[in-house]
Amino acid sequence: MGLLGKSLKINSMEIKNRFLRSATVENMADIEGYVADALLKLYYDLARGGTGLIVTGATSVEASGKAFVNQMSAYDDKFIPGLKKLAKVVHTYGDGAKCAVQIFHQGTAGYGYSYGALDGGYRLNDLKEADILKTIVAFGQAARRVKEAGFDAVAVHGAHGYLLSEFLSPVTNNRNDHWGGGLENRMRFSIEVYSAIREQVGNDFPVLWKLNTNDYLEGGNTIKEYIQVAKRLAELGVDLIELSGGIKEQSKLRAKLRAEAGAKEAYFLQAIEVMREAVVNTKTTLALTGGIRSLPVMEELLEKGVDLIGICRPLICEPDLPARLLFSPDKRSSKCTSCNLCLHHIARQPVKCVEYDPFRSVLKKI
Ligand SMILES: Cc1cc2nc3c(=O)[nH]c(=O)nc-3n(C[C@H](O)[C@H](O)[C@H](O)COP(=O)(O)O)c2cc1C
Repeated sequence: MGLLGKSLKINSMEIKNRFLRSATVENMADIEGYVADALLKLYYDLARGGTGLIVTGATSVEASGKAFVNQMSAYDDKFIPGLKKLAKVVHTYGDGAKCAVQIFHQGTAGYGYSYGALDGGYRLNDLKEADILKTIVAFGQAARRVKEAGFDAVAVHGAHGYLLSEFLSPVTNNRNDHWGGGLENRMRFSIEVYSAIREQVGNDFPVLWKLNTNDYLEGGNTIKEYIQVAKRLAELGVDLIELSGGIKEQSKLRAKLRAEAGAKEAYFLQAIEVMREAVVNTKTTLALTGGIRSLPVMEELLEKGVDLIGICRPLICEPDLPARLLFSPDKRSSKCTSCNLCLHHIARQPVKCVEYDPFRSVLKKI
């Protein structure tokens, strides 16, 4: 089984292997954001598929933060009973699998993956101080609900141009008060969100954070700035930083990164060494996500100091990929070709692997 099958302790959470299901918008909740049966089925499949740590799709901390019609919500206590069911499915059928809810606010609609995004009317550059403080409290309250619902950790979407990432990037943050300007000011929102979360969940509950390593935008943050952000988050006590990248036009960007990465697969490989250095002497662990498809690459990344291997699209088409690679003789790479059709699909419909949908050939003829 090698390194991939080795367990890992992150704060109070023991993860049975090194597979991280990177957050994936499901678009399968009901219209208000309550957990629906389709979601339970998806998590049942993932739980049985062998992933050690499953992170849910981005779940909104405020009604204005919702980006997709059928996205999950955690902005009110009324969502706790549904979330409890989801945690229970993973814990009942996952043979020790752990589960975190990714909390997020979409920020200004139109960034990130927001194909057909809802416009919640939130505009970072026009926000009043009171609006900002309210959203920070909302993150803390959402984290409390995640813990109360029985999940093992809370994950924060700090990447891809959504609200936290929007604050961080000089391209999207044009504020001239203490929330904008230099990096220290642009980091303030992330730091305050972290403090609000920690205050609610306590020190023993793992807090995970997805962070860009580069915005890939002219004038945006590069690894230089993100090293500083990672350093600060690690010093504050974030338990895991998941390295990713990009703001806007993710589909096109990822196609470009995939072409550039070639056989190396992992798009953000070059960030590992410097990010390791950034979190040195802290308890913070690192995950790497983006383009990872094959067993040899996964093992190589673990040897290079990555703690968890993040995968998203491969688990949409093969939810049992981890079990296959760990326990079956079939060690072939994921059949996912990173075509991004799944990403386009969530604009209006529940997530699914479009490329290998057996009904696709029929649909094409209609
Ligand atoms: C359909 C779809 C939905 C996604 N939803 C989220 C999300 O909710 N939160 C998040 O942080 N990233 C999200 N992502 C990005 C993935 O987590 C991941 O970073 C990206 O797809 C690269 O990893 P991969 O090559 O293994 O797919 C999504 C990606 C896809 C394709």
